[in-house]
Amino acid sequence: MPAVWRGPPILPFATRSVNCEALSARCYHAPMSQIWIERWRAGRTGWHEPGGNAGLRAHWQRLNAGTRVLVPLCGKSPDLLWLAEQGHEVVGVELSGIAVQAFFEENELAHSVDESGALPAWRAEEMPITIHQGDYFAVELSGFDALYDRGALVAMSAGTRPAYVEKTQRSLDAGAGCLIVTLEYDQARVDGPPFAIMPEEIRRYWPDLERAEARDDLDTSPPKFREAGLGELYEVVWLRPWSARADARQRRDGLPGD
Ligand SMILES: C[S@@+](CC[C@H](N)C(=O)[O-])C[C@H]1O[C@@H](n2cnc3c(N)ncnc32)[C@H](O)[C@@H]1O
Repeated sequence: MPAVWRGPPILPFATRSVNCEALSARCYHAPMSQIWIERWRAGRTGWHEPGGNAGLRAHWQRLNAGTRVLVPLCGKSPDLLWLAEQGHEVVGVELSGIAVQAFFEENELAHSVDESGALPAWRAEEMPITIHQGDYFAVELSGFDALYDRGALVAMSAGTRPAYVEKTQRSLDAGAGCLIVTLEYDQARVDGPPFAIMPEEIRRYWPDLERAEARDDLDTSPPKFREAGLGELYEVVWLRPWSARADARQRRDGLPGD
């Protein structure tokens, strides 16, 4: 049964894209934003995993994650649905209106659009999923006790990553659980996005993350990596163990850890 639309009229894709362009033109990383918008418009979304991310499904339970999960740069990932099905309230942020509209339509989710905040907030009616549509740096979000990042940190150029991490940290409660998926390959041989994030860099941002898994993903990566002569490209899952989260909560509230 298709979802019943009860919100304001949906603007056609083209009109929504114009809104995004206007928005991205105001932000300091506008050229990069424009590239993403163009990729969605042209349907060049090779990063999209229709079956969701295997690392998320393999490791998420170890997080002992709480209730509210932040998913920056979420695209139209089915991982949003999977996280909601695990009982979480899920909040994504995505630049492209095409992606956001596709997420709700392809999953036949009845939804409404709340235009009262800094960015339009698309809310599913029967699942706890909200996607803020626009530039991640243009919206202030807080009160999350878990982070799921796949395709977000690696989408940021080296110069933008510290600001992304700082902003993301501000949105998270102390001790929030984190599951972050990165890529490791020889950046000297081929440029991003997706960019390589080597262990030294991620440990600079989050010293307490545990390297949970590294899987050679060269065969299923975009052809540009093989064409550049890379011999290996790893998809790496980083976790903040639940005990660190419990410790932080204990320090904050004086409560015993879980
Ligand atoms: C590599 S894709 C990953 C999408 C999703 N996380 C997934 O796993 O399928 C990066 C996404 O970030 C979005 N994006 C890029 N810059 C953004 C920004 N400044 N704010 C919000 N979304 C952004 C792009 O439109 C794109 O959908």
